[in-house]
Amino acid sequence: MQITSVVNQKGGVGKTSLSVGAAAALAECGRRVLLIDLDPQGHATTELLGLPEAAPDAPSLARALTKTWKGPVEDLIVSHRRSNVGAGGAFDVIPTSPGMFDLVRRLDQFRVPGWQLARVIQFANYDHIIIDCPPALDVLTNNALMATHGILVPVQPDRTSIRALRLMREQISYLEKAVNRSPIAYYGLVPGLYRRPISGYAAAALQELHGFGIPVLPHLPLGVVMNEAAARGMPVTTFAPETVQAVAFRQIAQTLDSVVGQHHAPPPPDEEFVFEDFIADVSEARDANDNGARRKLYDLLPKRPRPR
Ligand SMILES: Nc1ncnc2c1ncn2[C@@H]1O[C@H](COP(=O)(O)OP(=O)(O)OP(=O)(O)O)[C@@H](O)[C@H]1O
Ligand SMILES: [Mg+2]
Repeated sequence: MQITSVVNQKGGVGKTSLSVGAAAALAECGRRVLLIDLDPQGHATTELLGLPEAAPDAPSLARALTKTWKGPVEDLIVSHRRSNVGAGGAFDVIPTSPGMFDLVRRLDQFRVPGWQLARVIQFANYDHIIIDCPPALDVLTNNALMATHGILVPVQPDRTSIRALRLMREQISYLEKAVNRSPIAYYGLVPGLYRRPISGYAAAALQELHGFGIPVLPHLPLGVVMNEAAARGMPVTTFAPETVQAVAFRQIAQTLDSVVGQHHAPPPPDEEFVFEDFIADVSEARDANDNGARRKLYDLLPKRPRPR
């Protein structure tokens, strides 16, 4: 299973369009794909795929991430039925849900705030998982980065995108060191949202983006067909399969498919068993159940103070 996050803290650069387009193109060629709508705005779910958000009392991504619901990941998943799906493939979605906007505050209170998404999806069984990230380098994006093998970065060819990319790279290398995880692969930059023919200004910015040493993938220039497809809750590969955008999504999907199995798994969620917590549990049980005879032994062992 290959996990790809679509990341850029800059808003409105095409993350959601790329997440949906790449996921749909993979499903179209017979891959089993799960798209996770991790952006509290919920645009992938509601605006692009025309799906409802999870009901307030149903199992949901927000509840799973905050551990207020602990069931199998399958209970969070809905299928997208208006997409072309090749033989053997699937296009499934973990939709947005009530409580997503409050998540950043609530996840920050966890002792290990970055591992919740990895825990939720650890038993999912797909060829590809695609994660649509919010426009922020926040705890939600960190959750995606901790779980992911690699990233796709949509960029608009202009000066602010170059600075944004630099900041993002710094954040990612900081995160890799902070949690001691294997390097996150940069599958590619996807330039988009520019008018054709490309202006001299945009072409110069594009040239500078090439200088980052990250593969530059097929472009997604502006096209009203993207909005028309979204208005019908369909991916553009299904709605307008011959357009330049649909063709680009298929090529990007091929790139993702070609790197499957090329890297090590990201580290497993590390919050399930923590030795110090185990000792603290034993110690608490001891305090409750015995007369203190074993106190000396446990008091020698490391314990981590925990909020009550
Ligand atoms: N190739 C395209 N042609 C025309 N419109 C597009 C194209 N790609 C994206 N858009 C439109 O541009 C807007 C921003 O795109 P999108 O929502 O994918 O960006 P985003 O990075 O996910 O935004 P946010 O940061 O708010 O999550 C949307 O209204 C979308 O419909
Ligand atoms: Mg978005």
